[in-house]
Amino acid sequence: MPDSNDHFMDWLRDAHAMEEQAEQMLTAMSARIETYPEVKQRLDQHIEETRNQASLIAQCIQRRGGDTSTVKDMTGKAMAMMHSFTAAMSSDEIIKGSLVSYAFEHFEIATYKSLIVAAEVAGDTETQRVCQAILVEEEAMANWLADNMPILVKRFLQHADTPGLSEKR
Ligand SMILES: [Fe+2]
Repeated sequence: MPDSNDHFMDWLRDAHAMEEQAEQMLTAMSARIETYPEVKQRLDQHIEETRNQASLIAQCIQRRGGDTSTVKDMTGKAMAMMHSFTAAMSSDEIIKGSLVSYAFEHFEIATYKSLIVAAEVAGDTETQRVCQAILVEEEAMANWLADNMPILVKRFLQHADTPGLSEKR
């Protein structure tokens, strides 16, 4: 049976795979945006943050004597591709993408909140500090999406009713 340390290591690996998936998904989304520069700019900022988060979590894993799981990372990347493909097939890609991002950020928030507790239980103050710092970035991204969703939806719908203005992405 896995002990608390095994679970903690597993969760850190999951978090690492999640960040790899996030990077893949955000990069695919950002590359396809044409008419929403402010969304693209915020996504690009978060892609940079996400890369840094992945490497910070990898360092926590290594410091605890583990390695990053390739299998889980691969699954995550396949899922990320599926998400971006589904969004690209729809005529409201920018909205679908925002919904997926919003949900994903909250999954990340839940992940780091539980990792902070697990790190505390393990007495791993460095991992706890890292997860707290990452949580701040995830919450900022989630808040930005929440604040901008009304503007985005209104603009998208207005343009849908304006001849010659098709702005699916
Ligand atoms: Fe993240």
